[in-house]
Amino acid sequence: MFGAGIDTSSITTEWALSELIRNPACMLKAQREIDQAVGFDRAVNEDDLSNLGYVRAIAKETLRLHPPVPLLVPHESTQECMINGFRVPARTRATVNVWSIGRDPRWWERPEVFDPDRFAARSAIDVKGQHFEPLPFGSGRRMCPGMGLGLAMVELSLARLIQGFEWTLAPGLQELDMEEEFGVTLQRRVPLRALAIPRMKAELYGGIC
Ligand code: HEM
Repeated sequence: MFGAGIDTSSITTEWALSELIRNPACMLKAQREIDQAVGFDRAVNEDDLSNLGYVRAIAKETLRLHPPVPLLVPHESTQECMINGFRVPARTRATVNVWSIGRDPRWWERPEVFDPDRFAARSAIDVKGQHFEPLPFGSGRRMCPGMGLGLAMVELSLARLIQGFEWTLAPGLQELDMEEEFGVTLQRRVPLRALAIPRMKAELYGGIC
């Protein structure tokens, strides 16, 4: 539970912030949305998330491009069955490459481009296992049981980071290395190094800034 819940959410948040630093127009749009919905006198909280459609779209677009569990977990048939005319023997192991599905040009226009608006505009497609184009949580009976918590954690921590700070590349960096480190979970090869400048009142940071 801890392994499946903590790593996945923090990896997604780190990728989302990396994409936003590389795409300042998206960062600005998210900041404006939060400023309008929440203002500058308090920190964004969970109740605000329903008013933050763009921030939620950022989380989904990040999960499309950087699914933290890129091959899901292995699934195995318990008994022989037929799927689309193919005989699948018992004990067949299936691996689903959701990383590749999320970048397939047959389903996604300009798949390599980070564009949260595709989820804001095409809200018919969601990441919750009902549509097969993005499957970051898997689908069906063995899909992630922590999906609701995972999404809320990513959306809320991301919203706080966007609201609380102006983000730029760390001094000395010209561009972000977006290489992935392949494994059971898909992390950044190089951890994100960025400069965070507070943009809210000092008391909202609990004495940290
Ligand atoms: C962004 C956050 C998360 C992502 C992307 C994610 C993704 C996944 C994926 C892809 C699977 C495998 C599904 C399959 O093979 O069909 C999985 C399984 C699982 N996840 Fe998550 N997860 C996240 C957060 C969480 C959280 C917060 C918890 C618990 C607090 C959690 C608990 C689990 C457990 C227990 C399983 C194994 C379920 C089983 O084998 O039946 N996950 N998750």
